[in-house]
Amino acid sequence: MNAIAGRDGAQEWSEDLLMVLAMTDVAVVLFGPDGRPSHTNATVDALGARLDPSAASGADPLVRLIPEQAWDAAARDGRWCAEVDAGNDVTLEIKLLVAPGDRQRRLAVFTDVSQRSAREAEMQRRHDELQLTYERLAGAQEQLLQSEKMASIGQLAAGVAHEINNPIGYVHSNLGTLQEYVGSLFSLIEAYAAALQEHGTPEQLETLQALRERLDIDFINGDLPQLLAESREGIERVTKIVQDLKDFSRVGRDEPMRPSDLEKGLESTLNIVWNDLKYKVRLEKYYSPLPPVECHPSEINQVLMNLLINAGQAIEGRGTLVLATGSEDGEAWISISDSGCGIPDEALQRIFDPFYTTKAIGRGTGLGLAICYSIIAKHHGRIEVSSRVGVGSTFRVVLPLEQPRAEPAAEHVASDQQA
Ligand SMILES: Nc1ncnc2c1ncn2[C@@H]1O[C@H](COP(=O)(O)OP(=O)(O)OP(=O)(O)O)[C@@H](O)[C@H]1O
Ligand SMILES: [Mg+2]
Repeated sequence: MNAIAGRDGAQEWSEDLLMVLAMTDVAVVLFGPDGRPSHTNATVDALGARLDPSAASGADPLVRLIPEQAWDAAARDGRWCAEVDAGNDVTLEIKLLVAPGDRQRRLAVFTDVSQRSAREAEMQRRHDELQLTYERLAGAQEQLLQSEKMASIGQLAAGVAHEINNPIGYVHSNLGTLQEYVGSLFSLIEAYAAALQEHGTPEQLETLQALRERLDIDFINGDLPQLLAESREGIERVTKIVQDLKDFSRVGRDEPMRPSDLEKGLESTLNIVWNDLKYKVRLEKYYSPLPPVECHPSEINQVLMNLLINAGQAIEGRGTLVLATGSEDGEAWISISDSGCGIPDEALQRIFDPFYTTKAIGRGTGLGLAICYSIIAKHHGRIEVSSRVGVGSTFRVVLPLEQPRAEPAAEHVASDQQA
């Protein structure tokens, strides 16, 4: 720093420096050896008057803003800097500088950064807005991927179901017929045996008995009906899986949706699955009156059935099942909460995937929730899940009361094309 000798022998600020200060548009206060402001520039007066018009000197309102410990820090480090709220919507950046080797030579620079703060706040606001938009986009992309995945798996499932359906049908029906035929054959064998008993020679009877024992006929007689019954049961299970696959892949039915009573659907579905639930759950219901909801009621019932069965299966021993309904903002909802095992976070991402199951073979195919998802998506609704391991899960089906109408413009084009 330039300095000239002062009257009292202490060094004073050089004329050059004072001229530079007069020309700058930041507010600068120079301090004398007594620690009081010795020089200020015009910007100090203007800024000071903005902060406190009644102040005797422009420097006062500015110097007042310097925190107590700040000069100590500046003396130690050579400089100190901070942003200070000066009131009247003014934010000042204060910089304190202390000359190395001459601690009495000090100056303070005040810069009005209110605009900068406002700009920063605006940038932060835009950044937050962008972040939110990005998150929404990411969510939408995930939904899109999920629906695409569902659509292609749906096509595959429809193909497989179609191919398997026929052979399964005749194997099932043939097994039934076979059961009857075998019954008839065994009746005939028994009739022959009885006739031989009466009219046969002892040698014939002995040969017959030996043959019967060698061929294990008595065992077969007892085992065959059970074998056939088990085979039929197996085929019935496959039929159920194929039916699930068909339901899953069904892309929109031809008949229109109609306003329906969701609560009635919930009650009748509950009746169907009640046999499986009644010994293990205590039921609580919190129903609010629901307006009619435009939907395919049989499909919605299927969703509710899948959710109720899952809830029951999640409960080991005894537990609670809470059913609630409500409607708001043009939507109706049904929630099904269980006090079952809960779903870990990493599994939550996957439960709607087709064939994702944690159940034993033969108990679950992993199609239940995939079917629910595609039915509810077709109804322009959503399924929300919240779950805590060891506490339970809540599945909430939300449906719009009315389905969105097709765009009039699109209808126009379609009828133009037909014409
Ligand atoms: N209420 C629930 N509580 C705990 N876990 C659940 C619940 N509902 C679903 N899950 C988990 O999500 C998985 C997938 O469910 P989803 O209904 O799709 O198939 P699934 O029940 O295993 O078989 P399916 O329904 O085809 O017979 C289940 O295996 C289970 O791990
Ligand atoms: Mg299920």
